[in-house]
Amino acid sequence: MLYKKIFRRFLFVLDPEFSHEFVLKFFKLLCFIPGFLQVLRFFYLVKNPKLERKLFGLSFKTPIGLAAGFDKNAKYYNELASLGFGFVEIGTVTPLPQSGNMKPRLFRLQEDYALINRMGFNNDGVDVIVQRLRNKYTDIIIGGNIGKNKVTPNANANNDYINCFHKIAPHVDYLVLNVSSPNTPNLTELQNKTYLNRLLLDIQKINKNKYDKPVLIKISPDLSFERIDEVLQLIEQHNIAGIITTNTSSNRDGLINAKEEIQEHGGLSGKPLKNKSKEIVAYVSNKTKGRLPIIAVGGIINSHDAIEMFNAGASLVQIYTGLVYNGPSIVRDMNKHILET
Ligand code: FNR
Repeated sequence: MLYKKIFRRFLFVLDPEFSHEFVLKFFKLLCFIPGFLQVLRFFYLVKNPKLERKLFGLSFKTPIGLAAGFDKNAKYYNELASLGFGFVEIGTVTPLPQSGNMKPRLFRLQEDYALINRMGFNNDGVDVIVQRLRNKYTDIIIGGNIGKNKVTPNANANNDYINCFHKIAPHVDYLVLNVSSPNTPNLTELQNKTYLNRLLLDIQKINKNKYDKPVLIKISPDLSFERIDEVLQLIEQHNIAGIITTNTSSNRDGLINAKEEIQEHGGLSGKPLKNKSKEIVAYVSNKTKGRLPIIAVGGIINSHDAIEMFNAGASLVQIYTGLVYNGPSIVRDMNKHILET
């Protein structure tokens, strides 16, 4: 309530990317005040053994997580954990630092509860990010989402994923191969059978020998069901721990009110994505007979959406755009709603 009535009004006057950075920096600053984190935990944390989920060898305190892209550089995950998340996924991380696409690159579609972004994997690079992961003090699950640099051609993409994997794996609980961002040229082609087979083969080889961490794949909502079937086959073949459905969409379906922002290139997230993401969750769950852990993400902006995703077959859910529009109390609402159902 307070968020929507006061903070959001102020924040939505500012440029979207600036306001994201501003909020996170200010939040981190507040967390230095003695007792502030405890107050946050008192308000936002919902502790209950019924919320716990055990998946791919990990124990999640709640099934609500923060999606990749929110804390790309692993600067805030310790503090964000106090908002009641069971897990936070940092990244996407690339081997070399890169500045991403030209600004402006993040747009609000307010009436549609949506965002369009073409950030382009702006991040500090794996070496700096690993240093920040060494300062972990939260006990929630941390995922590491990895990708390739823009300058790396797809033919050499595996090297980028392997490089990041080696460096990040010792510091996170699970890893995500992001082959679905629409904002790095041709990245989504890595979801093609031949590329993906090679990537999974290479990654699992080093993973099995050295790290033995759960590896997940994050897919695009724009894949056809035939292409999803191919991905599922490879997931089974390479013993992949789970799937994250979905990344942002290049489609503009489901938008009702958008004006000029609809013309912006980039990935659409938020409410208009929900039906598509849910359809994919249900499809994957059905195809895999509920055996493959699914992390649902896309358009989950309130607790009812989260419940719908669980009913469709999700094991865990992640949020991003919902947090921007509805504020941190939605995490608590979701946790409470799960306990009531
Ligand atoms: C994202 N997302 C994203 N995903 C990813 O795997 N790596 C990334 O770096 C990013 N970056 C990113 C930036 C911004 C500004 C947004 C809005 C989104 C996608 C995100 O994790 C999620 O899959 C989608 O946003 C769909 O979920 P929501 O936002 O509808 O809850």
